[in-house]
Amino acid sequence: MTGSPDIRACVIGFPITHSRSPQLHTYWLDQYGIDGCYAAESIAPDGLPDFLLSVKQDAAGYCGGNATIPHKEALLALADKADATARILGAANTFWSEHGALHVSNTDTYGFLANLDAAVPQWDRRPADISRKAVVLGAGGAARAIVFGLISRGFTEIVLANRTLSRAEKLVGHFAAAAEQQNCRLLPLTLADAEAALVHTDLLVNATSLGMVGQDELEISLTRLPVSAVVTDIVYTPLQTGLLSAAQGRGNRTVDGLGMLLHQAVPGFERWFGIRPQVTEALHRHMLQDL
Ligand code: ATR
Repeated sequence: MTGSPDIRACVIGFPITHSRSPQLHTYWLDQYGIDGCYAAESIAPDGLPDFLLSVKQDAAGYCGGNATIPHKEALLALADKADATARILGAANTFWSEHGALHVSNTDTYGFLANLDAAVPQWDRRPADISRKAVVLGAGGAARAIVFGLISRGFTEIVLANRTLSRAEKLVGHFAAAAEQQNCRLLPLTLADAEAALVHTDLLVNATSLGMVGQDELEISLTRLPVSAVVTDIVYTPLQTGLLSAAQGRGNRTVDGLGMLLHQAVPGFERWFGIRPQVTEALHRHMLQDL
């Protein structure tokens, strides 16, 4: 008995100080009485290959972990085995070593969908003959994970509105084959044209950083959005963004972004520590204390 914890995982990033993951996983470790720990490791981009090699060789002291900015694409490139979602998204956020091989997955799509499933049961259900339309604002990595999730849940039309039109067009091109297979129409637009596209929309997602503390507000009139639509934001600082307040004020159901962060962490925790953790109200409150 060395006194050191049995199972160790970590989050890697550069810089890493902003990560909420240690607080989240440590809560679950305490909750389930697991003899383990979850640390934050600052790993510079040029140190990533050596770090991952040491994980594979069981020399780093970690059985796996999460990756955040700027490592998500490089983690996928350095993996021995990647799950289908990581390959389709072109990025990975979760890793573990298994029989000397580095496995990776991407849990962002799962986190986005599970958050909506938990907050608004049936949010994606409509009679089979009725179209389902989503408007996604943004075209970065988060938007990519979200669009993939919406295609997989049978949305028939997804409008991608972004400040830089070429990025929205690129994202549409990336998912063209997957969308066609699911009879889903993808439409790239500029952010300025998003308001007009809100008619007949069932789900509006902000996947830009607008509305976050220290960033500009997201300026969008919701006049054309049906009151039956669900509105969600990936921004969780503040928890109640300007978009969510405006949507709530006119009667739309809203889902905040903290849940996506919590749910995306579930598969990794289960992989490293062997218990599938619950996302509870108490966990939400715990995380809110330090936001
Ligand atoms: P992530 O991977 O977290 O999605 P990202 O790739 O930096 O991060 O994407 C951030 C998103 O927020 C992009 O859609 C970005 O728009 P551009 O592609 O035009 O850069 C959007 N965004 C950030 N700041 C913005 C602003 N001031 N106005 C409009 N959109 C903004």
